[in-house]
Amino acid sequence: MSGISPKSTGVSKSKDEPKKTDQFEPRILAFCCNWCSYAGADLAGTSRMQMPPNVRIIRVNCTGRIDISFILDALHQGADGILVSGCHPGDCHYTSGNLKMEARFVLLKSLLTQAGIEPERVHLQWASAAEGDVFSEGVTMMVERIKLLGPNPVRRGT
Ligand code: FES
Repeated sequence: MSGISPKSTGVSKSKDEPKKTDQFEPRILAFCCNWCSYAGADLAGTSRMQMPPNVRIIRVNCTGRIDISFILDALHQGADGILVSGCHPGDCHYTSGNLKMEARFVLLKSLLTQAGIEPERVHLQWASAAEGDVFSEGVTMMVERIKLLGPNPVRRGT
C-alpha cells in the first residue's frame, strides 16, 4: 500500500461528504451536442490538449434535447458543475435547438438562484468540431471556477 491515509491527505473518509479543502476536485458533468462539441471534445483528447480530468461527458443529439430537469437532477445527485456545450448559433443541425437551450438557461439560472445554488455552477458555451481548444478552455475554466465556489451545496448538505 502507498501509506497515504485519509487523515494525512485531509480528505474525508466518505466520498459523499466532500470537504472544502485544497484537495477538492470538482465533479463536472458536460452535456455535449453530438455534431459539434462532442467532436470538439474528441479533438481536444486526440490532440492531447491540456485539460483537467474532472469532466464526464454525456453526448446528446442537440443541446435543444437537454431538459433543464436533466441539469437539476445532475446537481441533485452531486455534480459540482455543469457545462453545456453545443453548436454555434446558426450551425445547429436542428436549426434552433441551441437557441432554445440558451433561452432555457435563463430560466435555469433563475431557478438555481431561488434554490440557493450558485448559478455560476452552470455554463453554456458554443464549440465547433474544430474547436477542441475552446472545449478544453471551457472545462479548465469550469474546474477553476467550481474550486473557488467549493462543493455543490446540495452535496455539502447546507
Ligand atoms: S445540433 Fe448542436 S446544438 Fe443543435
